[in-house]
Amino acid sequence: MNTTCAIFLLSALAVALAGNAAAADRPDVNYDEAKVGELTLPDPLTFSNGKPVKNVKAWQQKRRPEIVKLFETHMQGRSPGKPAALSFQQIETDPQALGGKATRKQITVYFTADKTGPSMDILLYLPNQAIKPVPVFLGPNFGGNHAVNTDPGIKLSQRWMRDDKEKTVVNNRATEKARGKEAGRWPIETILDRGYAVATIYYGDLEPDSTNGWTQGIRGYYLAQQGKTEFAPDDWGAIGAWAWGLSRAMDYLETDRAIDASRVAIMGHSRLGKTALWAGAQDERFAIVISNDSGEGGAALSRRWFGETVGIMNKSFPHWFNDNYKRYSTNVPALPVDAHLLLALMAPRPVYVASAEEDRWADPRGEFLAAKNAEPVYRLFGLEGLGVSEMPGTNQPVGKTIGYHIRTGKHDVTDYDWAQYLNFADRHFNKTKR
Ligand code: GCU
Repeated sequence: MNTTCAIFLLSALAVALAGNAAAADRPDVNYDEAKVGELTLPDPLTFSNGKPVKNVKAWQQKRRPEIVKLFETHMQGRSPGKPAALSFQQIETDPQALGGKATRKQITVYFTADKTGPSMDILLYLPNQAIKPVPVFLGPNFGGNHAVNTDPGIKLSQRWMRDDKEKTVVNNRATEKARGKEAGRWPIETILDRGYAVATIYYGDLEPDSTNGWTQGIRGYYLAQQGKTEFAPDDWGAIGAWAWGLSRAMDYLETDRAIDASRVAIMGHSRLGKTALWAGAQDERFAIVISNDSGEGGAALSRRWFGETVGIMNKSFPHWFNDNYKRYSTNVPALPVDAHLLLALMAPRPVYVASAEEDRWADPRGEFLAAKNAEPVYRLFGLEGLGVSEMPGTNQPVGKTIGYHIRTGKHDVTDYDWAQYLNFADRHFNKTKR
C-alpha cells in the first residue's frame, strides 16, 4: 500500500468514526432524514442472554417482566404499588350536568389515612343515555380538572398550575378565567354521545412539573417516609408519579358500578402521552392505551436521530425520568430499551399511536417505526399489528391491534385525533366495524 492510499484510508476511517460518534452522541437536533442512518434495535423476542422467546408463555412470564425491569432500571424508575390506606370520597355529584347529558362526579382520592396528606381529584362524567356499566376514557390533564370544560360545577383546583408561557411556576394558582381553557382537547360531549364516560385527573395533583416539583408531590412524600432526602438512581421520576396517579384513578374506577372496569382506555398527550404509555406498560388493567404526540421518551424511537433527543430532554426536563437515564444522554445506543419495546409491553391489548405532520420535534416517523417494530410481539399472540408495511399518508388511519395515524397540523389533541380513538375503541370494545 502506498502512502497516499494509506492516508486516504485513514481519513475515510476517521470520517466514518466521526459520523458514528455524531449519531451516538446526539449533539443537536437533526431534521434531515439522510443523516438518520441505519437503525439497530433491541429485539423484543430475544432475551438479554441471547435466547429466543418462543411462545406467549415465555413472553408473559419471563421476557415481559425482563423488559419492564429494564425500563425501571434505566429510564422510568421503580414506582410503589397501591397504598394500603387508599380511600375515596365522593365530594360532589350532579345528575343533570352538561345540560342533562351527563352525571358529573368529583372524587377525592386520599393516598394515606391522613386526610390532610397527599391526594388527587378525579372528575368523571357518565353518559346519562347509555346503559351502565359503560366503558371510559381516562386521561391526565395539564391545566387542572376545571380546564377541560367550562362547566361551572367543576371544582376549581387549588394546586400548583403551569403558567401560560409554560414556565413551571410553583404556587401559580388557578382563577375562574382558567375554566375550559383546555376544552379544545377534551370533546367531552362527543365522547359521551358515543356512549363512553370520561374521567380525568390533574397531573399537578401528583407532582408539580418542575425540577423541584417533587418536594411538593407524591415522590417527595414517599421519600420522606423512607427517611431519605435523595432519590436512588433507579427511583421513579415525575412521569412515574403521574403514571402512578392513573393507576390510582383506575383503583377508583374499579369501585364505581356505573363503570365497566374491563373497558378502560387511557389517553395522554405529549409528556402525558409518555405518562399514559408507562402507565399502560406497568398496569395491565388498562384495556387500551393511546399515545397522542408523545415523542421522545414516549412512542418515538430514541435511537433515531431526529427531533428531540435523550440528551436534550434530560437537560430540559431532568425530573421526568430517573438518574440512570442521564447516562444515555450521550450514548443512546447503549440504552437497553427503546420505544418499540414500550409499545410491545401493551400486547395483546390494543395500543394506538398518533402523530402530527408539523410535530417534527416528536419525530412522527420514529413513532410509526416504534409501532411497526412492536408488531412481532402482537404476532406471537396471533394478532395483526398495524397491517401495513409503509407509513401511511396524512389523515389515513391504519391498524388492527396497533392503530396509527399522522394527521395534518401541529402538536396538539384535535377532534380528528379523538374521532380515531373513538372508532378504535368501538372496534375493540364493542366489536363494531367503524
Ligand atoms: C416539550 C418536550 C417534549 C414534550 C412536550 C410536551 O416539547 O420537549 O418532550 O412531549 O414538551 O409535553 O408538551
